[in-house]
Amino acid sequence: MIGRDLLGIEDLTREEIELILDTSERMKEVGEREVKKVPGLRGRTIINLFFESSTRTRTSFEIAGKRLSADVINFSSSSSSLTKKESILDTARTLAAMDPDAVVVRHAVSGVPRRIADALECPVINAGDGAHEHPTQALLDLLTVRQKKGRIDGLSVAIVGDIAHSRVARSNIYGFSKLGAEVRVAGPPTMIPSDIESLGVKAFTKMRDAIDGVDVIMMLRIQTERLAGALFPSVREYSATFGLNDAKLAYAKADAIVMHPGPVNRGVELSPTIADGRPSVILDQVRNGVAVRMAVLYLLTGRAPE
Ligand code: CP
Repeated sequence: MIGRDLLGIEDLTREEIELILDTSERMKEVGEREVKKVPGLRGRTIINLFFESSTRTRTSFEIAGKRLSADVINFSSSSSSLTKKESILDTARTLAAMDPDAVVVRHAVSGVPRRIADALECPVINAGDGAHEHPTQALLDLLTVRQKKGRIDGLSVAIVGDIAHSRVARSNIYGFSKLGAEVRVAGPPTMIPSDIESLGVKAFTKMRDAIDGVDVIMMLRIQTERLAGALFPSVREYSATFGLNDAKLAYAKADAIVMHPGPVNRGVELSPTIADGRPSVILDQVRNGVAVRMAVLYLLTGRAPE
């Protein structure tokens, strides 16, 4: 995969996804050592180009690069020449002239990482673009499920929430489907795209039907700051209908796991007893984010794996 961009899970084969997951397992082992550093990307430079806020993705890309001994530069849009109206493409070309070995891009608008990738020669990694894709999030979700369940093939996975505006949902639909899981989606009708079943998923507007007998429930963040009043009547009603609590969880398999990409609106999409309870693997997802991003950086910019 050396020299390639990672713009979406849609572009990856099953074999490529499995290669990234297998490499992530080896990278996870580095994070468990006393000295959490290997020389895999020594002498390489990685630029984190985040035009949208992030805690998990930006921090874990930085840690991932540093654990591989790369030099990692964090670009802050608020203190850059973007504030002087320099365009995004000129910004990207300017940074590319400094010869980075990879650029990690997050932007609120779908397609910006692809535009930047078309303009740059080094690999570009999509760290989340609009409602399009968030490929490394899906990879860390796949890794977490594979670790917890021992497989992905044959599992049933319910993704619940704002499917229409979620890049996490799209990337996970591609990822879990390619690895042989049955994927269901659920949410208010205003949050389910009318053509979603063309992606091979089954759509539900009743949460109970969607999570009946599933192995994995993935809850999505509701953008309360933007969406309340537009796509559902109230946060309270949304929570009562599509929030996950102990009573609803009982419809899933007894050993079902609960995932969330974060940040969580406690008491909205997840009750605190679920977010902090036995079925939650939210912090495992965060931990795996570092290993997956190490694997992606290594496979795209490092030496060929032996
Ligand atoms: N899951 C996720 O992308 O979180 P951040 O926005 O904190 O990076």
